[in-house]
Amino acid sequence: MIIDWYPGHMKKARAQIVEILPKIDLVIEVLDARLPASSANPLLARLRKDKPCLKVLNKSDLADPVATKAWVKALEQEQNVKALPLEAKNRRDAGLLPKLCRQMLASRVKAGKPLRVIVVGIPNVGKSTLINTLAGKKIARVGDKPAITTCPQQIDLRNGILLSDTPGLLWPVLDNLPGACRLAASGAIGDNAFDTTEVGMVSAEYLAERYPAQLKERYNLQELPTGQLPLIEAIGRKRGCLIAGGDVDLHRAAETLLRELRAGKLGRVSLERPADDNDAYSRVQEVK
Ligand code: G4P
Repeated sequence: MIIDWYPGHMKKARAQIVEILPKIDLVIEVLDARLPASSANPLLARLRKDKPCLKVLNKSDLADPVATKAWVKALEQEQNVKALPLEAKNRRDAGLLPKLCRQMLASRVKAGKPLRVIVVGIPNVGKSTLINTLAGKKIARVGDKPAITTCPQQIDLRNGILLSDTPGLLWPVLDNLPGACRLAASGAIGDNAFDTTEVGMVSAEYLAERYPAQLKERYNLQELPTGQLPLIEAIGRKRGCLIAGGDVDLHRAAETLLRELRAGKLGRVSLERPADDNDAYSRVQEVK
């Protein structure tokens, strides 16, 4: 279902993280609030050890607030970790970050030393947007190339914080199929890297389980049929995604659902909850 990608970047990105970590005091790890576990790369936790980490749950405007609250609690179980839901384009939201960084590094602040901070995360989670909002101007490159340069510039945020101007790129973990499917549904990986129809069908089933009222309302369905295929067919019919003979064009129906899900048209939806392995994504298995 998912085509592997990024293999060439992995080794390089790892070496860059290893090189940069000793030079910084705190890592701002940007996660997608809709899928905080699947949008993380466990390598970062292994490499940073007990270095303070502020986990930003970005795009919280798109996520289910109840799930986000549960994620903050779950993520903060880890030592030296704080979690902050926000919307990277929102200046007031981003403005909370420097204060939290200073709180987390209180002893260094007392010593009057500037705090060296870097923003890291997988592509598309909003790293560049966040850096630009924090800096108050367009600085970070928006793109998906491994991006810790050998000599990143530091932006003085004028509150005792020096922020690396280039986000650190982590690669998405795609060998866990449920996680990869959630990433695909969120739009974090390119559409040519997975089977749109399959991801759309699983997503339809997930939404029917977790957000039935929102799904019914969006597609004007009185009842939700049971099963992935009948669900995507019902959605496709409502959207006029038909082929000759009146059958539903499953690919187009899936594309429509995923596009509207990503744009927040179904309302605020999270694609995973902490310690939950009983949903349509979790049940996805490799077809032998
Ligand atoms: P990256 O550096 O981690 O790769 O991510 P980047 O900042 O480029 O953001 C990826 C996409 O996510 C952009 O949309 C950006 O606008 C959007 N985004 C970032 N933060 C938020 C947020 O808090 N909420 C929402 N809803 N979207 C967010 P795009 O369509 O790729 O680009 P653009 O047309 O918005 O410029």
